[in-house]
Amino acid sequence: MLKYFLHNRITFMALTVSLLSGFVLFAQTIGVKAVINADQGKHQISRHIYGHFSEHLGRCIYGGFYVGDDNTKIPHVDGVRKDVIAALKHMKIPNLRWPGGCFADTYHWKDGIGPKADRPTLVNRWWGGVIEDNSFGTHDFLNLCEELDTEPYLAANVGSGTVQEFIDWIQYTTHESQSPMAELRKQNGREKPWKVKYWGIGNEVWGCGGNMTAEYYANVYKQYATFMDGKEFYRIASGANVADYHWTEVMMRDIPKRMIEGVALHHYSVIDWNNKGSATEFSEEEYMITMQRALRMDELVTRHSTIMDKYDPQKSVGLIVDEWGGWYNVEPGTNPGFLYQQNTMRDAMIAGVTLNIFNNHSDRVRMANLAQTINVLQAVILTDEEKMLLTPTYHVLTMYNVHQDASWLPVDFNNVDYTFKDKKAPAISISASKDAAGAIHVSLVNIDHSKKHSVEVDIRGYDFKKVTGTILSSAKVQDHNTFDNPEKIKTREFKGFKTSKSSVMVDLPPFSVVVLEIK
Ligand code: AHR
Repeated sequence: MLKYFLHNRITFMALTVSLLSGFVLFAQTIGVKAVINADQGKHQISRHIYGHFSEHLGRCIYGGFYVGDDNTKIPHVDGVRKDVIAALKHMKIPNLRWPGGCFADTYHWKDGIGPKADRPTLVNRWWGGVIEDNSFGTHDFLNLCEELDTEPYLAANVGSGTVQEFIDWIQYTTHESQSPMAELRKQNGREKPWKVKYWGIGNEVWGCGGNMTAEYYANVYKQYATFMDGKEFYRIASGANVADYHWTEVMMRDIPKRMIEGVALHHYSVIDWNNKGSATEFSEEEYMITMQRALRMDELVTRHSTIMDKYDPQKSVGLIVDEWGGWYNVEPGTNPGFLYQQNTMRDAMIAGVTLNIFNNHSDRVRMANLAQTINVLQAVILTDEEKMLLTPTYHVLTMYNVHQDASWLPVDFNNVDYTFKDKKAPAISISASKDAAGAIHVSLVNIDHSKKHSVEVDIRGYDFKKVTGTILSSAKVQDHNTFDNPEKIKTREFKGFKTSKSSVMVDLPPFSVVVLEIK
């Protein structure tokens, strides 16, 4: 019993010294104790929190998703890689944002329909200045979403487009028949409309989307939203850059609630925009700073939500974090405009803690999109010609898909610090939910670089019979999958726990992610 106690408790020594006697009165061992009230689920965690983002950037679309119809030995469906489709379906991708990003505000959708050979080209001015041949267009993207059984999220061109172009796109994609654009769609081989609920009105309009002020954009937004006929749309305003709270204030104040369903927010975990560091060769100090940047998401979501609460106490407008993830220097020898980076256990930590933050704010955060799906930034998939690998981030998203549309459960716990020199960050991150079949899932992350931590999870209001678990961990935080060793990091069955009548005692190795299923 004593051995069990010592082994499983977080050991931080609380030494109380008597000023009078000068003797140590006690040395107490205190552990992380988490309480989950399983009967207090209040709202659903939207599956859309687990969404993704695919831009015409580097090798995300071309060479990532799309390998074209001609001259390729890579198995594909209408030019989209079969292995990619299978992997994303397995991960349960709930939505996909397209075509940007900054690219969206240069994109004219009519250039991407009709016979491929006749399509005009454009210079991709944001991403390497390469020639975009428009061979992957609206049909390709929306058919892909159907194949994936995922919801499309289209980002409209506000920066260099027009309202007419925008409403034509809506008509082309969603009208049954008889409208000019629906007829054009049919001529291009698609009889039925697609289902497109999610529409972003511009992207980063404070920057690459037009360098607008919040006040100016609020009017532009209303102009675009005015012409969106149809109640089924979910309209998302281009949102704040990180901690620009004024932006969210103006969106909430100046746009009537009948015209908006979501306000976006972008935040990347980057050490320093002028010196982002290597994706794979990083020091513990860089690791710590990346963790601090990732954990800042909690503060950002809390503060933006507080502003939204003031104007929308019923929480009818969602906070949509439609770009997040780690951002490092590109891999040596690759095009700097392509943002291709490797993905290590550090990225798994970013994913684990960020998704826990979103789950724990799911009363307001209704959608989020990891940047970006394939070969760009914190990708879930990397490709090299016919080869494909799944990153540690992919495995976290897959482990966490049990939370999609489950009932969020509040978790209370005392945390412990991970420290490095003068820096510190909370070591443990937890979220929990109950699914439609009644199973509880608890996702736990220990970001500590070198210490294991133990967490006692006390389950109240629920009699459980069986606990199982999955873990993602590795020997070094720099570890990653390569095309020569694509399964170095993969999920394994987790056995590092013990159960008692109403609690589960979990041992979390350094930089690990664990998901428990409790039934
Ligand atoms: O994801 C890469 C870029 O980051 C996007 O195009 C832009 O919206 C953001 O600045």
